[in-house]
Amino acid sequence: MAKRITTTEATTEDTRLEGSLRPQKLSEYIGQTKVKNTMAVYIEAAKARGEALDHVLLFGPPGLGKTTLANIIANEMGVNLRQTSGPAIDKPGDMAAILSKLQKNDILFIDEIHRLNRQVEELLYSAMEDFGVDIIIGSGPAAKPVRLKLPKFTLVGATTRAGMLTAPLRDRFGVVDRLEFYTVPELALIVRHSANVLNVEIDEDGATEIARRSRGTPRLANRLLKRVRDFAQVKHDGVVRGDVAREALDVLDVDRLGLDQIDRAILQTMITKFGGGPVGTAAVATTIGEDQETVEEVYEPYLVQTGLIVRTPRGRMVTKEAYEHMGIPMPANKS
Ligand SMILES: Nc1ncnc2c1ncn2[C@@H]1O[C@H](COP(=O)(O)OP(=O)(O)OP(=O)(O)O)[C@@H](O)[C@H]1O
Ligand SMILES: [Mg+2]
Repeated sequence: MAKRITTTEATTEDTRLEGSLRPQKLSEYIGQTKVKNTMAVYIEAAKARGEALDHVLLFGPPGLGKTTLANIIANEMGVNLRQTSGPAIDKPGDMAAILSKLQKNDILFIDEIHRLNRQVEELLYSAMEDFGVDIIIGSGPAAKPVRLKLPKFTLVGATTRAGMLTAPLRDRFGVVDRLEFYTVPELALIVRHSANVLNVEIDEDGATEIARRSRGTPRLANRLLKRVRDFAQVKHDGVVRGDVAREALDVLDVDRLGLDQIDRAILQTMITKFGGGPVGTAAVATTIGEDQETVEEVYEPYLVQTGLIVRTPRGRMVTKEAYEHMGIPMPANKS
């Protein structure tokens, strides 16, 4: 798949930038009010007792701030954070080695936790529940099981696919938080803050325009800000104003709702070839030359989230808003 500027997955360019833009404290973490408020209480209570925080599972689409929040939790607790990811751990022994290095109340952050293999996951059950793991020392006839005791620690797991977590693993988390897409005002605040860090002059209108086209996702807001800044520098006086942002984002082919060419091709196809639906994603995918899984996992969620497409038992349908957005009159028999 070609790289889309609108992808919400991290690109190498983002990774370079994100270090400096990541908020460090809960009070600097914008939006996600519900999660933030409850987390603040849990952190304060755990700190007052001098205990580790309950295990926390964070789930939600890419780029909404799971990794950021995990780091903030560690900062606020005043403990170390060790980071690894599901696919990075092959063997239970590797997991045991990581666990054995934890100190009291530390945070172990496991990204993409839905991708842990079965044996590693099973080792985690006892680590999370009893703060101990059984490992085998030696091999062959000399092999013997040894119980390794662990300090109380907090597992923070992150996943974009909560549905792929097994029930036993999910049940071992005391706190399960879902991150939501951000509102335009929240994203505008994030854009202004990032502009400040990057030394970019921006006005309210410029920040709002970028926010509106960022698909509810801070990572994308930051990336678009960078692109618009370059544009403002080269074509204008460097200040990111509303009209400059609009011009730049139009050139980048990110429309008023943050849709790109492929998103629009999907809506166009559903309207002109399938009478607005209901239609299956397989048929839509074939018509635009993408595979079905990509349509369902990459494109459709945002189209559903913005209310341009609805899922029905008989297939997907476009809404009145989709006709309006595409500038196509809606047939009378549809409304
Ligand atoms: N609440 C927030 N306030 C300010 N900036 C934020 C917030 N959440 C995320 N960001 C910005 O967005 C970037 C991406 O966030 P982060 O890496 O935490 O997302 P993620 O949910 O871990 O994504 P992935 O699923 O791809 O791992 C951060 O580097 C940060 O700059
Ligand atoms: Mg992450």
